[in-house]
Amino acid sequence: MGLNVKKQRPVNLDLQTIQFPVTAIASILHRVSGVITFVAVGILLWLLGISLYSQEGFLQAAAIMNSFFVKFIFWGILTALAYHICGGIRHLLMDFGCIEENLATGIRSAQVAFVLTVVLSILAGVLLW
Ligand code: HEM
Repeated sequence: MGLNVKKQRPVNLDLQTIQFPVTAIASILHRVSGVITFVAVGILLWLLGISLYSQEGFLQAAAIMNSFFVKFIFWGILTALAYHICGGIRHLLMDFGCIEENLATGIRSAQVAFVLTVVLSILAGVLLW
C-alpha cells in the first residue's frame, strides 16, 4: 500500500516545464557570480604581477589583453562582478531594512538588479573593445 502511494506521486523532471521564480534565479546567480569573482581574483592578480614585474612584463600583459578570447573572459568576469555587486547591494539593503522583505519587493529588486547588470555589462564591453 505504502509503496503504491509513493508510485503515484506526481514526478516532474521535464526541465522544459519547470519555471524558476525570478528571485530563485537571482539567488543562484549571486552564488555563481561570487565563485566566478573568487576565481577572477587569482587571474587578475597574476596579470597584475606580470604587468608590474618589468617594462617587458607590462608589454606582455598588454599583448595578452589584446586577444579577443581574453577580452571575452574579462567581459565575463566584469559581468559576474557587476551582478555580484548589484545582487550584493540588494541583499544589504534588505538586511538593513531599507527595502521591504516581501515577495513583490523581492521580485522587483531582483528585476532591477538584472537590468542594472545588463547596463554595466554593456559598459564593460565598451571599455574592453
Ligand atoms: C573579491 C570580491 C568578492 C568575492 C570573491 C565574493 C564572493 C562571494 C561568495 C562566494 C559568496 C557566497 C554566495 C553564496 O553562498 O550563495 C558571497 C556572498 C555575498 N556577497 Fe560577495 N564577493 C565579493 C565581493 C562582494 C561585494 C563587493 C559585495 C557588495 C555588494 C558583496 C556582497 C555579498 C553579499 C551581501 C553576500 C551574501 C549574500 C546572501 O546572503 O546570500 N560581495 N560573496
